[in-house]
Amino acid sequence: MRRGLGVALGLLALGAAGSGRSGATLFSKGLAPVDLGATAAADRSAAACLDCHADTHAEWSASRHAVAWTNGIFQREFRREPLDWCVRCHAPLAPGDAASVDAVAAEGVNCAVCHLRDGVMLASAHAPDSPHLTEVVSGFGSADYCGGCHQFAFPFVEDDGAVRRYTDHPMQNTVAEFRASAHRDIAGECLGCHGTTPAGHRFPGAHDLAALQHAAELHVCADGPRTIELAVRNVGAGHALPTGDLHRHLQLRAWRSSAPASYWEAFIGRAFEPAPDAGKQVRVNTSIPPLATSRWTVPLRALGGEPDETVSVELRYVYTADEIPTDRNHPGEPTSRAVHHRRVDPSELPPCSSTP
Ligand code: HEC
Ligand code: HEC
Ligand code: HEC
Ligand code: HEC
Ligand code: HEC
Repeated sequence: MRRGLGVALGLLALGAAGSGRSGATLFSKGLAPVDLGATAAADRSAAACLDCHADTHAEWSASRHAVAWTNGIFQREFRREPLDWCVRCHAPLAPGDAASVDAVAAEGVNCAVCHLRDGVMLASAHAPDSPHLTEVVSGFGSADYCGGCHQFAFPFVEDDGAVRRYTDHPMQNTVAEFRASAHRDIAGECLGCHGTTPAGHRFPGAHDLAALQHAAELHVCADGPRTIELAVRNVGAGHALPTGDLHRHLQLRAWRSSAPASYWEAFIGRAFEPAPDAGKQVRVNTSIPPLATSRWTVPLRALGGEPDETVSVELRYVYTADEIPTDRNHPGEPTSRAVHHRRVDPSELPPCSSTP
């Protein structure tokens, strides 16, 4: 395991010279594959780090970064739109199209993608007992660093299927949402919440129920005797809820079990329309900004059922455009997840005037 890193150690003096790398420019936002340069082949795989960083390796293995190429939701969408462009972020070590994804590139966003260039370890600090040739890179792990993959626009897809430039219409807008929020000065930026402690390299997000419940509060109150008000507050996310992939959305629902067909529903997310130049632009955006609250009033009679019957309220996070895909195009992993589920008796709800 020490082979490649031993070689790197031999290059210590070279690394100390500095390279002018910065966290903001390490990643190309999908315009090119990640080029590890003169990094030893053995160090490209996460397996090279396992012996000495077992905890970090275990956290990363449980992260979405580790399944960025292999997960069923991505693979299904990629089959529909198999652009080399997708490969550059979801299997960044592959030099070309899907056929160039070898076993190491299939590790997705692995240790080497984030930490290694030309055999040099890139990090935010260099421990005294570290065996690595380490370059301390300014802005390593900053919002701009994450933005190298997490902030980008709809691309111009050329006739040959290549992507060489972007439109001005954001496809993933996570860093801009963060910069516009009251969280923008949080120590560590994205890592202040997703950071290396306590969740470490697991980078929990929308596939983590605890993170979702921490992000979204659901409130129900009585707006007079015949109407209930539902409110969702984005208390915990440092960006919009939802953020990220364009298909992400939440469904807020209310229904009575004796009249399930008369359910009430609201969509929380972005809906798009074709843009004049290329790609798509936002038509409606009901995503909830950080620390904001969205409210809906639901007349009880719209739900049908008995006047004194309890009401079920559910907030559900949906990972794909089709919440309930057909068997034929099912990605083989959950396509949605209930964040909050509650049964309320309308006559016992607090009046909305008394709730924040
Ligand atoms: C021979 C044992 C060993 C191997 C193999 C190893 N590391 Fe380390 N690494 C260490 C030690 C010891 C430290 C310093 C203490 C710590 O942070 O855990 C360290 C520190 C680091 C740091 C912080 C920067 C620094 O220099 O202090 C990073 C980043 C890192 N390792 C990444 C990796 C990656 C990525 C791999 C696999 C490509 C890897 N390490 C393989 C032992 C190892
Ligand atoms: C998505 C990018 C990303 C991936 C993938 C990644 N790291 Fe890191 N790693 C970081 C960032 C950012 C920091 C700096 C955290 C900070 O400054 O608080 C870091 C810090 C570290 C450190 C320093 C100690 C610590 O935990 O802060 C070690 C060691 C390390 N990483 C090892 C690894 C290993 C081993 C893997 C693969 C199993 C890996 N990393 C995968 C981004 C990544
Ligand atoms: C090399 C590109 C790359 C970099 C750099 C990167 N990410 Fe990611 N990240 C991805 C991809 C691709 C996914 C989606 C994986 C998948 O298909 O589910 C992802 C997923 C995530 C998720 C999980 C989302 C979910 O739905 O649960 C979080 C949280 C996250 N990244 C945070 C970060 C943070 C914070 C940083 C900066 C420290 C960072 N990432 C750096 C590419 C990257
Ligand atoms: C104030 C805490 C906080 C900060 C700061 C923060 N996040 Fe998050 N993030 C969360 C929580 C909580 C979730 C889970 C709920 C959700 O999915 O929105 C999340 C979810 C995510 C997801 C998956 C969500 C999705 O809906 O697709 C990604 C990707 C992500 N964060 C990336 C980032 C990046 C990149 C930054 C920095 C620009 C960042 N986060 C800053 C708390 C934070
Ligand atoms: C510039 C980098 C980049 C490019 C290019 C890119 N993605 Fe992503 N993708 C991400 C990041 C970052 C996330 C994580 C945000 C989130 O989870 O919502 C993600 C998430 C996803 C998800 C959600 C996965 C999950 O775990 O729920 C799907 C599906 C997806 N991408 C498909 C694609 C397809 C198909 C393409 C090409 C048409 C593509 N992506 C191109 C960066 C990229």
